[in-house]
Amino acid sequence: MVKTVYVNGEFVSEVEASISIFDRGFLFADSVYEVITVLGGKLVDWNHHITRLKRSLNYLNIDFPLKDSDLIDLHRQLINFNNLVDGLIYMQVSRGRAQRDFLIKENLKVSLVMFSQELNLLDPVRLNRCLRVVTVPEERWKHRDIKTTQLLAASKAKTEAVGQGFDDAWFVENGLVTEGTSSNAFIVIDNNKVVTRKAGWEILAGVTRFSMLKKAKFLGLEVEERAFSVEEAELSKEAFITSATNFITAVVEINGKLIGGGKIGPVTKALREHYISDIKQSSL
Ligand code: PDD
Repeated sequence: MVKTVYVNGEFVSEVEASISIFDRGFLFADSVYEVITVLGGKLVDWNHHITRLKRSLNYLNIDFPLKDSDLIDLHRQLINFNNLVDGLIYMQVSRGRAQRDFLIKENLKVSLVMFSQELNLLDPVRLNRCLRVVTVPEERWKHRDIKTTQLLAASKAKTEAVGQGFDDAWFVENGLVTEGTSSNAFIVIDNNKVVTRKAGWEILAGVTRFSMLKKAKFLGLEVEERAFSVEEAELSKEAFITSATNFITAVVEINGKLIGGGKIGPVTKALREHYISDIKQSSL
């Protein structure tokens, strides 16, 4: 099916959609994005995604003219145009078009692009995937808390990991894990304590990470937001990743060392079940 996408004020067929070659998103990765999950035709964690989008825009000093109510309306129209039930909406805001110049001009007209993707999010095979990750040196810039489209280091790391027979890579800086190529990284240690990097410039503060940690605390699990080493990860009881479209997915091997006997652990499973049941109820 040919999709309907949104480009700068218009819903058009994906084959007709176009953007200027002078768009600064294209030339300088001067753009930010969000990936919002759609479940049963509804938007998951909308408020958190929009808060983070504004934070990213603010950091780059990009003035975004649309109101939240207009933006959610565009998302809903896109869902309807594409009869989207389960999947995602990708939204990208770039600073706009200008002659190629490292000096950023003020008052450019931002461009907004949105498209949808169908995904079988609740397929048990997908939910029960057991990932094997490899750790690799951190090569990204120092503002990973800003969700820019500058994703080459992450894309390259994932491709190389898959080329070596792994499913994904976790970045490591000064011996400590930062996060996955497109997800946050977690380990479970001791008496079911969930450990993950504290939100700061080193990682993207994932929306799924936030909701999941809230749920973990509610369920009485101990949560420690601190950096952990590769060695600690390799010796952990369970490990998992979180992201909007992967929810909470088990990691059962790190650098070839089996975690949790190579199976999804009870903490990962319980958190995932609670998280999914929560978002089914709270989506808009
Ligand atoms: N990526 N860390 C990085 C580097 C990410 O790219 C992502 C998400 C996350 C998880 O964030 P959230 O829970 O808000 O999805 C963490 C998206 C899904 C992507 O680029 O496709």
